Amino acid sequence: MGRTFVCSLVLLCFLIPLTVADWNILNQKTHNGLKISLKNYCESWRMNVELHDIRDFQVVPEECTEYITKYVKSTQYKVDSERTTEECLVYLSTSCNLKKDGKDAWIFDIDDTLLSTIPFYKNNLGKKINVTALEEWMSKGKAPALDYSLRFFNEIKSRGIQIILISGRREHLRSATIDNLVNVGYHGWTGLILRDPTNELVSVAEYKSQVRKYLTSKGYRIWGVLVTNSAALRGILAV
Ligand SMILES: *[C@@H]1O[C@H](CO)[C@@H](O)[C@H](O)[C@H]1NC(C)=O
Repeated sequence: MGRTFVCSLVLLCFLIPLTVADWNILNQKTHNGLKISLKNYCESWRMNVELHDIRDFQVVPEECTEYITKYVKSTQYKVDSERTTEECLVYLSTSCNLKKDGKDAWIFDIDDTLLSTIPFYKNNLGKKINVTALEEWMSKGKAPALDYSLRFFNEIKSRGIQIILISGRREHLRSATIDNLVNVGYHGWTGLILRDPTNELVSVAEYKSQVRKYLTSKGYRIWGVLVTNSAALRGILAV
């Protein structure tokens, strides 16, 4: 099997309790003495998270929560995300030798990849994440689709690739999740894998990697993965 291409949608991490920032913008300098603004600092932080240079952080620096919030609501965020899916398609057209035997597969994450959780966080900004409230919101099945992901999803399907959805959502949200996906236009996936009680204790990353191994053992060729780099979100949820 070839390498797996991970298309990472841009960072989504605006859900941080806001507390008093103690970063002093006037005195801020880089290690080499370059004077920088808060925006320089936060933009550089965001970019390096997306490039996976900064790993395993638990939270977004508090000073940057405002910047990140603005970013995910901006046109730039949409442009960046659209570009991600366009690049995935270029990769698919140029580098994937599809066999079309029903074993070519592409993996999608759900939250903030196919469906947006922004409406939930809009009403909960500045509060510590309440998983019960988040799951209650998910169970209503009202999450909107992300347009660029829906287009990409349909494109993948039209090329005869099997679509496997892997989510950190728990099993009890299965029917709400299916209804939500179908209502906003997603259909025709091959598998929907959610977390069941036996794998709730492993980390989300570990769980997803186990699932990928399982799919490979079933003969699937996983050509790519569309995910959101929501390490921050996971960090917050784990607190
Ligand atoms: C979390 O949300 C649930 C359901 O909305 C609510 O009953 C509970 O009080 C909340 N917990 C906290 C700590 O705010």
